Amino acid sequence: MIKATIAELPKYVDKEVKVGAWIANKRSSGKIAFLQLRDGSGFVQGVIVKSDVAEEVFQTAKSITQESSVYVTGTVQKDERSPFGYELLVTNIELIHTSTDYPITPKEHGTEFLMDNRHLWLRSKRQHAVMKVRNEIIRATYEFFNENGFVKVDPPILTGSAPEGTTELFATKYFEEDAYLSQSGQLYMEAAAMALGKVFSFGPTFRAEKSKTRRHLIEFWMIEPEMAFVEFDENLKVQEQYVSYVVQSVLKNCQLELNTLGRDVSKLEKITAPFPRISYDDAISFLHEKGFDDIEWGDDFGSPHETAIAESFDKPVFITHYPTKIKPFYMQPDPEREDVVLCADLIAPEGYGEIIGGSERIHDMDLLNKRVEEHQLDPETYKWYLELREYGSVPHSGFGLGLERTVAWITGVEHVRETIPFPRLLNRLYP
Ligand code: 4AD
Ligand code: MG
Repeated sequence: MIKATIAELPKYVDKEVKVGAWIANKRSSGKIAFLQLRDGSGFVQGVIVKSDVAEEVFQTAKSITQESSVYVTGTVQKDERSPFGYELLVTNIELIHTSTDYPITPKEHGTEFLMDNRHLWLRSKRQHAVMKVRNEIIRATYEFFNENGFVKVDPPILTGSAPEGTTELFATKYFEEDAYLSQSGQLYMEAAAMALGKVFSFGPTFRAEKSKTRRHLIEFWMIEPEMAFVEFDENLKVQEQYVSYVVQSVLKNCQLELNTLGRDVSKLEKITAPFPRISYDDAISFLHEKGFDDIEWGDDFGSPHETAIAESFDKPVFITHYPTKIKPFYMQPDPEREDVVLCADLIAPEGYGEIIGGSERIHDMDLLNKRVEEHQLDPETYKWYLELREYGSVPHSGFGLGLERTVAWITGVEHVRETIPFPRLLNRLYP
């Protein structure tokens, strides 16, 4: 007997196979039962015809409960009506474990209830689809950077420094010393770029932000490339190529999942490099024309502003050259204008907000020293970072892409809480 996963069934048309599965759902009448089977690799319908199987097999199918686990034996058949394209004509069911009173029934449940049951909610078809897309984005990320000469480097999670400002840090004790959970690996990635040229990281980052929006997580995963001898404009080119590559990979490899999620793929098909660019100055004028009187030059954008700007484009848009005073200490000033920096945020379409923050970094020692002072950072803590400017300093640039916001945009789910297996949110550490 061939033991197969549901994803492998297309290889075994008209053959008999054995599949380990859970019962996602069930329908039955006097003569026929339909089992929605899932095994993690996919979902398939199992059909049990009373007259074709032993009486006890049909009785098992009729009485089996949601999320019970089974070994199912059956013949693989093509089924044009199902999105998967195949079904299993069941000949035998071996019950492994009976599940009683599974809390997430096929009816509608409230968000808090689902979040309390996140450990089980992950089994649902929609959550399964989101996790598969997340995995494809990660896979395509490694592929893109490996194919383009980048080396994966892992920055530490326990750190003594704060690249993105000191207000959102998770403080902890490192024995006797004060330490923080990393809010960005960037500073370490700059050191790595001086050793390995083009590097990228992929890891968890932490922001003790009291934000409760559909875009904010306390713990989120970031991809942070950093490149020696790469200047502002070249940095944007890498970003648009990377983001396009990821979107096109998902379109190619996750058709079933995008279909399950009801995603409008025509919107994703348009996501190809190059992406439009708008300067911060022009974005402010644009917002004033649109009637946003609340914003002035020097203010940071809120999500309504970002959404208004993004709505004029059907691709992600770079907003460039933000005021120096609202950006972190390490950003390179525009040589023609001291009051703005060589940075860009990439804003996703359809209201998903900022998915990338990036910039050219200051490589002049004196200027960086001055900035450290202005931002009242402890030069002792940043000594190693400053030293990178002492030994063969070079222009360099990098960026950070937030994985969960990118998953939300590509899958079309409303809230980032559905884009990470176990979200850490304001007031939620369970499960
Ligand atoms: O713009 P941010 O803060 O940039 C940095 O941390 C840089 N040091 C990155 C770099 O240049 N290496 O964060 C980068 C991205 C944001 O654009 C957003 O996608 C995501 O990380 N992000 C969050 N995602 C979910 N929840 C949060 N609280 C997030 N904060 C940032
Ligand atoms: Mg940012």
